[in-house]
Amino acid sequence: MHTVTLQPSGHQFQVEDGEAVLAAALRQGFVLPYGCKNGACGSCKGKILSGAVDYGVYQQKALTDEEKAQGKALFCQAKPLTDLVLEARTLGAAKDIQIKKLPCRVQKMERLADDVMALHLKLPANEKLIFLAGQYIEFLLKDGGRRSFSMANPPHDAELIQLHVRHVAGGQFTDHVFNKMKERDILRCEGPMGTFFLREESDKPLVFVASGTGFAPIKAVIEHMFHKGIARPMTLYWGGRRPKDLYMNQLVTAWAAEHAGFKYVPVISEAKPEDTWNGRTGFVHRAAMQDFPDLSGHQVYACGVPIMVDSAKRDFIAQCKLPEEEFYADSFTTQADIAGAA
Ligand SMILES: Cc1cc2nc3c(=O)[nH]c(=O)nc-3n(C[C@H](O)[C@H](O)[C@H](O)COP(=O)(O)OP(=O)(O)OC[C@H]3O[C@@H](n4cnc5c(N)ncnc54)[C@H](O)[C@@H]3O)c2cc1C
Ligand code: FES
Repeated sequence: MHTVTLQPSGHQFQVEDGEAVLAAALRQGFVLPYGCKNGACGSCKGKILSGAVDYGVYQQKALTDEEKAQGKALFCQAKPLTDLVLEARTLGAAKDIQIKKLPCRVQKMERLADDVMALHLKLPANEKLIFLAGQYIEFLLKDGGRRSFSMANPPHDAELIQLHVRHVAGGQFTDHVFNKMKERDILRCEGPMGTFFLREESDKPLVFVASGTGFAPIKAVIEHMFHKGIARPMTLYWGGRRPKDLYMNQLVTAWAAEHAGFKYVPVISEAKPEDTWNGRTGFVHRAAMQDFPDLSGHQVYACGVPIMVDSAKRDFIAQCKLPEEEFYADSFTTQADIAGAA
């Protein structure tokens, strides 16, 4: 057993032998930033001020050798070899939220696009899931595997949990969703998880960047803001290959018509002539950069495929002066990313 001290807060917690820093922190009520929990996304990266760790199994792009040499580690993977002092901020907002394992029933399945299915899930009658807009749940598979999906509904509209599931070709769970799952099926899930939620203490204007089903948690965050009357100016960039990939375009267009502080910019990367697309084209994060060459006073929330999230983080910081700590993301990694771990 080792003791971890967090700086600057001075909080301390114990880590069992063989346990990762993040798991121990969460178990004891200290919420550190994290996303995939699998060494693939980099959200949990922080600095070791003193002590030694076993770095665990992770992807090179989530933690480069250069970052490692600077004392950084991925706390979802790092296991203490000695007592540690870490530089890490805890997130108060998620502190008292209980993570539960629950059965849920597939109440409704709704095809939103060729490769996107909305799952509406019902919890047992006496159970309620308390969560923050933008968090995700994990399905617990029979073989012990887990699959993460973000809740697209905000907490004030939680009668049913809504997920937007993209079909990954050859993917164990999403193949099942698209080929075999039926309404009334029972699934097991655990949640809520993750730290992709609005930092409400800030009043900075917001830029949201979504690719495909990365829209799901952003939908929850934006609907939460409308509901609470949070009036920070916000612009959503939603990217897809073809217009049909923006599977709730009508809803978002309606938001833009109703809310003066909300702007919507759909961006299409591979329009076909039959799409008669005359809107913005190219990579979704590039469109945001054209409109916001100076992001030094903004917060950015990005969600979707890892290539988009990684490019947005790199380019916004390097080229648009976004402070690194004002970039918040959930990267939709899959087993393919994890299997590629170093
Ligand atoms: C925090 C978080 C939130 C997410 N939220 C959402 C969401 O709201 N909506 C959404 O659509 N997605 C979301 N995702 C992504 C989603 O979790 C994955 O797409 C999903 O887990 C895929 O599961 P699967 O079983 O279908 O595919 P997997 O089994 O994970 O397979 C994915 C791909 O990897 C390949 N593969 C599998 N095993 C291996 C291996 N050993 N070696 C090499 N390749 C392999 C498969 O053939 C397939 O092509 C989220 C991910 C994270 C981390
Ligand atoms: S949470 Fe640690 S790398 Fe994703």
